Amino acid sequence: MVSFNFLILSLFLSHIFIFVSATSRSRLETDHSDTYTGYINSSCQATRYPDLCTKTLSPYAATVQTNPMELANVALSVSLKSAKATSKAVRDLSKERGLSTKDGQAVADCLENMSDSVDEMKKSMTAMKEMDGPEFEENMGNVKTWVSAALTDEDTCMDGFEENDGKMKERIRGYIVNVAELTSIALSLITNISST
Ligand SMILES: *[C@@H]1O[C@H](CO)[C@@H](O)[C@H](O)[C@H]1NC(C)=O
Ligand SMILES: *[C@@H]1O[C@H](CO)[C@@H](O)[C@H](O)[C@H]1NC(C)=O
Ligand SMILES: *[C@@H]1O[C@H](CO)[C@@H](O)[C@H](O)[C@H]1NC(C)=O
Repeated sequence: MVSFNFLILSLFLSHIFIFVSATSRSRLETDHSDTYTGYINSSCQATRYPDLCTKTLSPYAATVQTNPMELANVALSVSLKSAKATSKAVRDLSKERGLSTKDGQAVADCLENMSDSVDEMKKSMTAMKEMDGPEFEENMGNVKTWVSAALTDEDTCMDGFEENDGKMKERIRGYIVNVAELTSIALSLITNISST
């Protein structure tokens, strides 16, 4: 009898357990994280670097949800962070001993271009925060102009190395490629907003 009661109790408890785990699973299913990462992925397909875009921006799915403005904002802030890091890396390179005169000049120019790029993206971030208002179109136009200037600055960083022997150019390229791709992604996500 005791063991029969025990059996009933165990059955009862195991039903409770199944009920609880089913409930928590359905709670997981009603959260929207798949929708949100899907939105980021599909928006990224129209950029020039869809894989980098999805990989870099998916961690922000909870913030972005399905809001194109938030997506552009996050993309811009990731690019700014990368531009700052690149700028610092180029600054460190410029202090290296034993640079040839030509390399030294090219690194100094690149540093100048990268600081401009950082400034332009900072201005853009500020403008993106003040988007609701009658000046929306004008603001958006400014942001597009600044972000594409930032991209040009990043591209021209490489120019000074063209005639030099390849070594320094390859090192610089390693830094620049990533920030330039992130900036290009931000620009196309921003452009999509203003065209809708
Ligand atoms: C993103 O979308 C593409 C194209 O629709 C698809 O092939 C790919 O599997 C998706 N990637 C992820 C991580 O969801
Ligand atoms: C562009 O924006 C529209 C409207 O917000 C959105 O539905 C669409 O997915 C976006 N496309 C891309 C490629 O970002
Ligand atoms: C990059 O910096 C160099 C040196 O300051 C400058 O001559 C060049 O115009 C800059 N490029 C851009 C696109 O600002």
